[in-house]
Amino acid sequence: MPGRLLRRDAVTDPQALLRIAADAAGEAGRLLASWRGDERPEVIDTKSSPTDVVTEMDRRSEALITEWIRAVRPGDTILGEEGGQTAGGRPGPDGAGDRARVRWVVDPLDGTVNYLYGLPDWAVSIAAEVDGAILAGVVEVPRLGETFTAVAGQGAWLHRDGSPGTPGAIALRCNSGVALGQALVGTGFGYNAARRRVQGEVVAALLPQVRDIRRGGSAAVDLCSVAAGRIDAFYERGLNYWDYAAGGLIAREAGALVGGLCGQPESTSMTVAAGPDLFGDLAAFLTRLDPERDAPTGGEPSV
Ligand code: IPD
Ligand code: CA
Ligand code: CA
Repeated sequence: MPGRLLRRDAVTDPQALLRIAADAAGEAGRLLASWRGDERPEVIDTKSSPTDVVTEMDRRSEALITEWIRAVRPGDTILGEEGGQTAGGRPGPDGAGDRARVRWVVDPLDGTVNYLYGLPDWAVSIAAEVDGAILAGVVEVPRLGETFTAVAGQGAWLHRDGSPGTPGAIALRCNSGVALGQALVGTGFGYNAARRRVQGEVVAALLPQVRDIRRGGSAAVDLCSVAAGRIDAFYERGLNYWDYAAGGLIAREAGALVGGLCGQPESTSMTVAAGPDLFGDLAAFLTRLDPERDAPTGGEPSV
């Protein structure tokens, strides 16, 4: 039944999914960048801890992205940081939208704390997952005028001040041949104080072993920085799927290894990304520090 096969392939064509993700991320990026208030955007809620904030703009960005995707692919599933998972309704035009196959993984504003403080490293991250595998991903970084994209098996690209598909895209390649002692390593910290205590111990042990540490404030941007060779490696415990779904594909398509420790895949427990020759040494060093534990809760000094 070639007709049937063609139709289903069209529904899950990674380039078509990438275009939708890029358009939605571009629109959401423009919305977020349009915040011109002299005051900070209002914090309207907190999540896992009092410092894990949600602004009005996180919600507006996710609403825009959800509406955008629903308009063109009403049958797909959407997993968004703010709204959770919502299944689609009827299939869209041409059968587009197959809730059993396509899921959009959305962080509408990665780096909310940077955004709140007016720092430039924040992003919109959208990945398209088909049958459980990420096939396309976009990380839009409005304040840098940069859009990072990747399609599984087709490389990773940086587009400056233009939509994907316009001329001038730069093919991304992660750094190679970097020894652990020369590596610039990015990391991040969760919002939970007990977890941070262990994360602090781990980074303190790693710091004397590497060139330096960077804490950028957006895991999606950090993973794109590995892809672009702006840092040599990145690791973080406790990321959510929407933090690393698109950026992980972009780093991998730029030649990096992306995974967890001890041969595990990347997960909320641990995500590591580095050039293939650095990944093993970094993962082995981290493993010895037992970084996937959490300190007992309580006892944190109140501020
Ligand atoms: C956070 C950022 C940060 C990372 C945190 C994430 P959010 O996402 O990616 O860099 O260290 O673990 O939760 O809350 O700004 O979307
Ligand atoms: Ca995030
Ligand atoms: Ca977020």
